[in-house]
Amino acid sequence: LNIAVLVSGRGSNLQSIIDNIENGYIPDAAIKVVVSDKGDAYALERAKDNGIDAVFVDPSAFGGKKGYEEEVLRTLAKYDIQLVLLAGYMRIIGRDVIEAYKNRMMNIHPALLPSFMGLHAQKQAFDYGVKVAGCTVHFVDEGMDTGPIILQRCVPVLEGDTEDTLAGRILEQEHKIYPEAVKLFAEDRLKVDGRIVSIL
Ligand code: GRF
Repeated sequence: LNIAVLVSGRGSNLQSIIDNIENGYIPDAAIKVVVSDKGDAYALERAKDNGIDAVFVDPSAFGGKKGYEEEVLRTLAKYDIQLVLLAGYMRIIGRDVIEAYKNRMMNIHPALLPSFMGLHAQKQAFDYGVKVAGCTVHFVDEGMDTGPIILQRCVPVLEGDTEDTLAGRILEQEHKIYPEAVKLFAEDRLKVDGRIVSIL
């Protein structure tokens, strides 16, 4: 399974996928390329440190979103990518990319969807006063954080929590369920029927 990971930042979820391929938890898979829309993303360093091609695609260099995404698609095609993982990638994916990787592109979101879509989900949840928070891995569709849900994990909100302690507790679980979802995909155990993802 040839995987590409799209990133914009620190890349801790990228690292958890790298580690879980390396230790054999995710079978028959390799990250072929890490693509970033930010030249200084730490995730690019992580890729290089692990011998993975790291590509910065400059969003301002291709005459707008369409041109930028065509370049991203060309990059993915070059590596014969079968699964695309968004891991802290801070852009809305356009329709052409969605179509090209329908049910073959996943995202990790730091909230229990459909609650708290969009940016700063952990802060949204914390400020709302929820007692249970969590994270979601889902396939990517045209909406923001709206695609079919693959896995979710919840964590408690504890007395004395801050936004940061809560975000840390959620991140720990992100690093578990993202590799789990990729493993299920690699083993061909995910069946998608409309919104419903069954685990075989
Ligand atoms: C994570 O919280 C993820 O859920 C969200 O963006 C953050 C990325 O963190 N989509 P990292 O770059 O994987 O460390």
